Amino acid sequence: MPYENIYIKQVAEHPHIYSDEALMHAKKGKWKEFFWKEKLMLEIGTGMGNFFSNYAANRPEMACVGIELKFKRLIRTYEKSALKGREDVILLKVFGQKIPEIFAEGEVDELYLLFSDPWPKKGHHKNRVIQDDFLRNAASILVSGGIFLIKTDEASYAAWIDEHLARCPYFTYEKNENEEPEKKLTPETATEFETMGRREGSKIASFLCRKK
Ligand SMILES: C[S@@+](CC[C@H](N)C(=O)[O-])C[C@H]1O[C@@H](n2cnc3c(N)ncnc32)[C@H](O)[C@@H]1O
Repeated sequence: MPYENIYIKQVAEHPHIYSDEALMHAKKGKWKEFFWKEKLMLEIGTGMGNFFSNYAANRPEMACVGIELKFKRLIRTYEKSALKGREDVILLKVFGQKIPEIFAEGEVDELYLLFSDPWPKKGHHKNRVIQDDFLRNAASILVSGGIFLIKTDEASYAAWIDEHLARCPYFTYEKNENEEPEKKLTPETATEFETMGRREGSKIASFLCRKK
């Protein structure tokens, strides 16, 4: 019997998970109004949703939008958030690189990119989320002074992020190795990949960026 991914149908029918990009585009510039909240956080690559759901539960004043590509992970992220009392979050099934089509300039207050796929082989570096164009787009959707937290446990990706941030004119940033700077901002727990990385003794690099 062929394998059937039961999450495809669940995502298609879920009122809080958008796969139709036209629906996402229609909310551009109107996300805060839609949520009736004054501040908006966006996480790209929510994975199984530990960080996203804890953040949403701890920060009821924030509108929370998560981006993820995988069906099961979208469902798990929503379920965890709802279980913790945040049924009002929205998840988008779309490439994170499409943020400027979905969010207006200065619409986002906090952006998180945690343990995005490191693509360690040289020929695959073009697939990394962090690129010069992506940083320009991330800065454009952030409000002035807005936060962008990036973390990785892959040394070559950490060096790549550092290089790209160093030549990026839109952010100031501080780099921390094996520290948890986000704890100073929010009381959220680690992501699944951070927990795994720490268990395996990986060195974790954090880049806490602020839009100039
Ligand atoms: C290595 S996992 C990390 C998940 C989670 N942030 C964590 O730390 O546990 C990367 C996640 O990003 C998603 N992803 C990969 N490329 C993406 C892209 N271009 N846009 C949005 N999500 C992406 C993957 O499906 C995966 O769930």
